[in-house]
Amino acid sequence: MKTIVVIGAGNIGGSLIAGILKSGIADREHVIACETAAERAEQIRQQYGIRVIERDARTVVPEADAIIVAVKPQTVPHVLKEIREVLRADQVLISVAAAVPIRLIEKVVGRQVPVFRAMPNIPVMVDEGATGLAWNNHASPEQRAFVERIFRSVGVVCAVNEELMDAVTGLSGSGPAYIYMVIEALIAGGLKVGLPHDIATRLAEQTVLGAAKLVRETMLHPAILKDRVITPGGVTIAAIHELERHGLRAMLISAVETATRRSQQLTQSLMEKFDCPEQ
Ligand SMILES: NC(=O)c1ccc[n+]([C@@H]2O[C@H](COP(=O)([O-])OP(=O)(O)OC[C@H]3O[C@@H](n4cnc5c(N)ncnc54)[C@H](OP(=O)(O)O)[C@@H]3O)[C@@H](O)[C@H]2O)c1
Repeated sequence: MKTIVVIGAGNIGGSLIAGILKSGIADREHVIACETAAERAEQIRQQYGIRVIERDARTVVPEADAIIVAVKPQTVPHVLKEIREVLRADQVLISVAAAVPIRLIEKVVGRQVPVFRAMPNIPVMVDEGATGLAWNNHASPEQRAFVERIFRSVGVVCAVNEELMDAVTGLSGSGPAYIYMVIEALIAGGLKVGLPHDIATRLAEQTVLGAAKLVRETMLHPAILKDRVITPGGVTIAAIHELERHGLRAMLISAVETATRRSQQLTQSLMEKFDCPEQ
């Protein structure tokens, strides 16, 4: 069984630990967390019964087959500097940090190791994540299968060219926030027309969940499914006219485009900060 070290056991790191254990990719003896926030470290210890160290990942990295770096983007280079002396070419390095390109990781590590860059999203906390995954040319097919399995344990995985990672960030990385706004607004709409708060919330969340599930299971284009809800001269088409008048679709398209551009800017400034020029 492979040993996995997770550096940073917050929202994403903690969810990956849960997924890895639940799916049997590794058992409790083969997952080690490195978490500097003492309270969170204790919580992870209690919840999963795994070894958690609170500083210096260097001491556990030699035991790892795979190392997942799940700290904030600006902390990633520091963590990499800390562990680079003990990294080996047979180990897999996985980063989930937004806006941290593979070539920056390679530059800081300073040696040839298989590097994976993943862009998950927050529904990994309930095993319904959407992860974009890219890797460098040192990764073997077996390592790719292994890393895909890790992220599949918490949702869906799409392999992408790394140049599309900012687009993944703009769509699915940030996307849950857009959908929370939609749910929030649907609840408010329900309240406006007199539904009790708990019922409006239940109906709104289930409507989003059910609509998404129907897209997935029928594999039909959403436009076709939308058409099925419409009766000529009826209720839904009146609402759709309102949504079109206020530009719902144009707004979401712009949101994804703007988030993608912002992600590109953040990537650029991180690259400049760590003196890593474009290739
Ligand atoms: N949240 C999302 O929706 C999302 C989506 C896609 C990708 N990501 C990426 O995932 C990464 C983690 O995000 P998150 O939301 O999980 O953040 P988080 O909840 O803040 O988790 C990071 C954890 O790592 C700890 N930490 C900081 N420095 C450390 C070190 N040197 N060694 C070990 N642990 C350390 C932090 O402790 P302190 O709080 O004390 O610093 C924190 O508990 C980020 O790079 C982010 O870009 C997040």
